[in-house]
Amino acid sequence: MSYQPLDWDIISLLQMKKDKIDTISLFNSMNLSNIERFTFDRSIAISQFLLDKGLKRSSVLDLGSSGGVFALTFKIILDAHVTAIDDDRYILIQGETESSSIKMMKNRLKRLNIQGIIPINTSIEEYIGNLPPIPLYDSVLLLNILHHFYTGYGQGSSYGQMDFEETSQLLRKIGAITSKYLFFEINSSVIKDYEQYLTDIMYICNFRKLEYVTRSVATDGSLRAIWCFIK
Ligand SMILES: C[S@@+](CC[C@H](N)C(=O)[O-])C[C@H]1O[C@@H](n2cnc3c(N)ncnc32)[C@H](O)[C@@H]1O
Repeated sequence: MSYQPLDWDIISLLQMKKDKIDTISLFNSMNLSNIERFTFDRSIAISQFLLDKGLKRSSVLDLGSSGGVFALTFKIILDAHVTAIDDDRYILIQGETESSSIKMMKNRLKRLNIQGIIPINTSIEEYIGNLPPIPLYDSVLLLNILHHFYTGYGQGSSYGQMDFEETSQLLRKIGAITSKYLFFEINSSVIKDYEQYLTDIMYICNFRKLEYVTRSVATDGSLRAIWCFIK
């Protein structure tokens, strides 16, 4: 498969070459499904963003990590220490032979012989709920997750659904546990519906600015954007 990153300019590509990141070999070695190509592209864009900020060997918390593509890419490119949270109890990955995200991630770690990634099978609410509200991670990823707080994430069920107050509390805590960056992605067509939450995170958690990272295209063709809240 030819590799065509999304929303990338020649400067980013040249920079990757300079950083000696061979995305084609990496993509092939990870043996991802075609549908995960989109995730791989996004993980490369965020890796480059962190590299540009000089953030190697940092700690990353991936909330709603799915099959671990971000975790693996960050480990390989940035030598990051990644904690990856997903909840296998209520999710089935459609179109994959494995029955769960965490299992898929563990199989990948084993196959690629990668250490330094901690997959945790729990809900985001439980994990965050047990942490003190202090900066514990350099970066936190909240990519395509916010809508799940609102609609739930069990397949065909409203499991995990939260009300406005519960969601706000959780987001504030997520904002508090990052010392530098909170990466955030949502479908552009619904971003207005979540504006209140975003404004809340920005001011309550003392982020200094919001930077655009990249746009991406969801598997259904809809447009998304990744933003980074910066402290
Ligand atoms: C839409 S996918 C996004 C995956 C990944 N972050 C990305 O952007 O490609 C949602 C994933 O987050 C997980 N998820 C959603 N809400 C969750 C929660 N409250 N606790 C744990 N996992 C959750 C689901 O199990 C699923 O694997």
